[in-house]
Amino acid sequence: MSGRAAKAASEIARVNAFFPIMPLLGNRLAAKRPFEGLTVGVSAHLTSFVGALLQELALGGGRFVVCGASEATTDGSVVELLRSAGMVVHSAGSRKDHQMLVLDEEPDLLVDAGANLIGTLLARRPEAAAQLRGAVELTKSGSERLKGLQPPFPVIDLNDGRLKPGVENRHGVGEGLWQAVQQLTGVHLSGRRVGVIGYGPVGRGLAAYARAGGAAVEVVERDPILQLVAHYDGYPTPTLEDALKRVGLVVTATGGRGVIGPEELRPARHGLVLINAGHGDHEIDVVGIKGASAAYDQIADKVVAYQLEDGPRVIVLADGHPLNIVMNAGSPEPLLVHFAALGLALERLTQGGLPPGVMVVPAELEADAARLALKALGRAHG
Ligand SMILES: NC(=O)c1ccc[n+]([C@@H]2O[C@H](COP(=O)([O-])OP(=O)(O)OC[C@H]3O[C@@H](n4cnc5c(N)ncnc54)[C@H](O)[C@@H]3O)[C@@H](O)[C@H]2O)c1
Repeated sequence: MSGRAAKAASEIARVNAFFPIMPLLGNRLAAKRPFEGLTVGVSAHLTSFVGALLQELALGGGRFVVCGASEATTDGSVVELLRSAGMVVHSAGSRKDHQMLVLDEEPDLLVDAGANLIGTLLARRPEAAAQLRGAVELTKSGSERLKGLQPPFPVIDLNDGRLKPGVENRHGVGEGLWQAVQQLTGVHLSGRRVGVIGYGPVGRGLAAYARAGGAAVEVVERDPILQLVAHYDGYPTPTLEDALKRVGLVVTATGGRGVIGPEELRPARHGLVLINAGHGDHEIDVVGIKGASAAYDQIADKVVAYQLEDGPRVIVLADGHPLNIVMNAGSPEPLLVHFAALGLALERLTQGGLPPGVMVVPAELEADAARLALKALGRAHG
């Protein structure tokens, strides 16, 4: 094994030592060998966590042909590790059509992050699509993209079940976002006044972790039922305008566009810090804020202050991109739980009997993934 591959192997060993959900998945697959004789095509962000997943999936037999979903997120040491384990890896950027290189291997199963392989297969290899046993989609953006497609094979969408909102959205983002804020700004939450916009699973986690960190949290939510839930969870629930006059940091988690722009900011508190935890970079209207500013100042990497004309000075972090992702912050455990569900979904596809088209991840499969997580935590009962 090369030095770079050994670096990835040691990172994976560290993660597995404290939360061994991936080895537990691997043990199960090694006993059943569900992928024996099959080719599995994978498009994913080739981080050390995906490396940990693929190493264990490979214990289920089969041949793995992998491509990176993005050049920016491809870790060269992971690529080397996977190659040393006998996988074919086309790292993003090695050739434009790396997805076609995977599809050229005529996979029986697909693992996708962003519906890249599924979309390319349907558009460019419709005859091969009819032969596919099935696919698993990992990401929210892929899940959205799949809504416009009608695959002639089963696709298990891991996003709309109960497990991801309950664990990753709520606890993964809740913990990771504030860790990222601290890394980037040095701010300690104690005694700070924080606004959370949106009280879905992500907002609920953000509010809870900020409160646990000592902040005074206010929640802005437009759904009256969730606003009432936030109230009984113990948070003031003002209007956005009212909250922005008081809070020192505000984080958006709505899934909407332009939730905070120059108009909303005019009456806001001087020095307000704007952070996004929602998908994409459109919840905070950074272009609008820039356009309405008399001056702006890059204070540090990913930290820009804007002096609004007729308004306060505000600070935007990471240009309004989801900060926990930009900073790769937070515990990997929620992501690894999601990956365990992926492994079990792939195993389920080999058993056949699922109808063609996109389906929400079956409840019993999520329950199995949760049992693996509980076992990894040493908390399994029954
Ligand atoms: N940063 C990450 O790592 C990460 C991870 C998972 C999900 N997400 C994203 O976070 C966002 C929130 O996820 P969720 O699961 O909580 O979604 P959700 O749809 O369950 O919750 C969003 C909430 O925001 C409220 N809302 C919408 N517009 C609003 C507005 N203008 N003012 C006040 N409230 C408003 C909605 O009523 C809803 O309750 C999504 O965009 C999701 O894709 C980010």
